[in-house]
Amino acid sequence: MAKLGNVEGDIVHLARVALAGRNQDVQLLLHRLAKAYRDTSPQLAAKVTELLREAPTRSSPLRRKSETALPVDVDTRFQLLRVEDNPILEHEPVFSDQIAVKLERLVGERRHIDALLQQSLHPTKSALFVGPPGVGKTMAARWIARSLERPLLILDLAAVMSSYLGRTGTNLRHVLEYAKSLDCVLLLDELDAVAKRRDDKSEIGELKRLVTVLIQEIDDWPSTGLLLAATNHSELLDPAIWRRFELVADFPLPDEQAIEAFTQHLLTHKSKDPTKWARIMSVAFKGHSFSDIERDILSARRAAAINGGVVDDHLTGLFRGQGLSKTDRINLAEILVETGTTSQRTAHDLTGVSRDTIRKRVSGTKTPKRRLVKNE
Ligand SMILES: Nc1ncnc2c1ncn2[C@@H]1O[C@H](COP(=O)(O)OP(=O)(O)OP(=O)(O)O)[C@@H](O)[C@H]1O
Ligand SMILES: [Mg+2]
Repeated sequence: MAKLGNVEGDIVHLARVALAGRNQDVQLLLHRLAKAYRDTSPQLAAKVTELLREAPTRSSPLRRKSETALPVDVDTRFQLLRVEDNPILEHEPVFSDQIAVKLERLVGERRHIDALLQQSLHPTKSALFVGPPGVGKTMAARWIARSLERPLLILDLAAVMSSYLGRTGTNLRHVLEYAKSLDCVLLLDELDAVAKRRDDKSEIGELKRLVTVLIQEIDDWPSTGLLLAATNHSELLDPAIWRRFELVADFPLPDEQAIEAFTQHLLTHKSKDPTKWARIMSVAFKGHSFSDIERDILSARRAAAINGGVVDDHLTGLFRGQGLSKTDRINLAEILVETGTTSQRTAHDLTGVSRDTIRKRVSGTKTPKRRLVKNE
C-alpha cells in the first residue's frame, strides 16, 4: 500500500475503496488514516477515530452472522434477500397521523420491551402494510429499521414466485430461518404475489402448500424480530394470511396537506418560492402518489440543470396532462393567478379553464355582479 499522509492521494484512495463497496477495507483504511494524520491534523484524526468507534457495522448483527451465508435460490444460487445493513432514507417520510401513530407504536414497543415483558406481553411482531404503489410502504419499513438501528432484509416475493413453485416453499423457509436468527426487520414485499399465481390449475396443490408454509412461518416468527409485509392488493390475500398479522396499516394516497408538506420539503433550497409552489402542487397533484410527485419534480430539476435557469421555470410544465377534474383545474387556475405565478392567459393555456371563468374567480363576486347590471 502506498504511503499515507498526502491528502489528495488519500481522498482518492478512500473514494476508490468506498465506491467499490468494500466496507471492511474502508474501515481499515480509515484506521490507518487516523493514525497517519494524528500529528498533522489531530482534530481530524480524533473525529475519524470517534466515527469508527460508533460505526454501526462493527457490531451489526449481520456482521456477527457473516459466517452464515445469505440464503440463495436452491437451483440458480441467486441471492434471495436484499440486505440494507444501515437503512438510509433519501428524505424524511410524510405519514398521515393514522399511519404515524401505528409506526411509532411499533418502534415504541421495542424501546419499552422490559415494561412489556414484566406484564408477560410481547411486542407486536408482525405488521401488514397495505396501499397503492408509491405511498411509502417500503419507506416505512426502512424508517422502522433505521429507528430500531437494525438491518432491513427485503424478500421480494414476486421475484421468488417467478421460479418453480416447489422451490418457492423451500426458498421461503430458508429466508425466514436465516432472518429469525438475526435481530433484524424482515420485509416480505409484494405479498400478494403468492395469491396472484392462480392461472395454472396444475399448480393449485403447490400453491396451497406454499400458503401453509407462509402461515407456519408467520406463526413461528419470534417476537425478537419484526416481520413486515407489504401489498398493493390486500383483497387478493388469503384471509388466513391476512389474519396472522398483528397490526394492519392502510397507507392512503397523500391528501392536499401531505402533498404540500412533501413538495415544500423537496423544493426547499431548490426553488425561489417553495411555499408558493407547494400550495400550487397540492392542487395540481391531487390523487397522485408521493413517488409520482417526486418523479415529476425531479424531471423539472433535471430540465433546469440541463437547460439552465431555476427549477421554478420548469415547474409549470408539469401541470399539463395531470387528468384533473374541472373543479380542480379551476382551483389551480385561480391559485396560479392569485399567487402571481402566471398571467391569466398562461393560466388558461395551462389548465384549459376559460379566461372568463378565471377572471370571475380571481376577482371574487365583484365581476359577476357588475356583469349582471351590464347585461340588464
Ligand atoms: N409517505 C412518503 N413520504 C415521503 N416520500 C414518500 C412517501 N411515500 C413514497 N415516497 C417517495 O416515493 C418513493 C417510493 O416509495 P415506496 O417505495 O415506499 O412506495 P411503496 O408504497 O412501497 O410502493 P410499491 O407498492 O410500488 O412498492 C420513496 O423512495 C420516496 O421517495
Ligand atoms: Mg414497496
